[in-house]
Amino acid sequence: MSGAGGHEDRLAWFDELYRRAGDDADAVPWSRAGPHPGLDHWAKSAIGRGAGHAGRAIDVGCGLGDNAEFLASLGYDVTAFDLSETAIDWAKRRFSDTAVSYAVADLFALPVEWHGAFDLVSEVYTLQALPADLRQGALRAIAGLVAPGGRIVVVCLARDEDEHADGPPWPLARSELSGFGDAGLAPVTFEDVVLGDNQRRHFVAVYERAEPET
Ligand SMILES: C[S@@+](CC[C@H](N)C(=O)[O-])C[C@H]1O[C@@H](n2cnc3c(N)ncnc32)[C@H](O)[C@@H]1O
Repeated sequence: MSGAGGHEDRLAWFDELYRRAGDDADAVPWSRAGPHPGLDHWAKSAIGRGAGHAGRAIDVGCGLGDNAEFLASLGYDVTAFDLSETAIDWAKRRFSDTAVSYAVADLFALPVEWHGAFDLVSEVYTLQALPADLRQGALRAIAGLVAPGGRIVVVCLARDEDEHADGPPWPLARSELSGFGDAGLAPVTFEDVVLGDNQRRHFVAVYERAEPET
């Protein structure tokens, strides 16, 4: 995929891609009928199941809604947002009797009431869709959604530290995700796994915000 630089350009680029796809989900490169295999992998893992799959969850850059619907099917009360109004309208049409609350929102200007409000934040493929100069700010914004005691699960394409990333999408190096630590989260698990129909290398990582000491 080729992409654009500035914020308005990015909105236009994603929105245009969804608009051009019409109602054909196969024309959206990241769409799939069901959850991303990395999210499914996390959900079935001991660390995913250990959290109990309950509480409030938010899906970042939700696109056509498959990951959000999966989280709702696990038992979460799910909010899902995307910058693209076309994607959000489409997700609502695809899942017309959904329990998910879909919203148009910009990761860089999130509603204040979402701050620290979610027991689970799922981030699949949004960070890697942003140019490097925006990524650490995006990471802080995503971290800001996590409630005390809550967790983030991140799924992204992976690269070695010294490997050139030619994007978008830009596969991420492990060191880039360490920004979650700078934002006050502690790493729980970090997996380097080959996943998906195309058998590409992914990171599936979980970070946690500690409960305040009493
Ligand atoms: C590669 S797609 C991944 C979609 C979805 N997470 C999935 O795995 O199917 C990246 C998504 O991030 C959204 N996005 C890009 N910039 C955003 C921003 N600033 N705020 C919210 N969503 C954004 C795009 O519109 C797009 O739907």
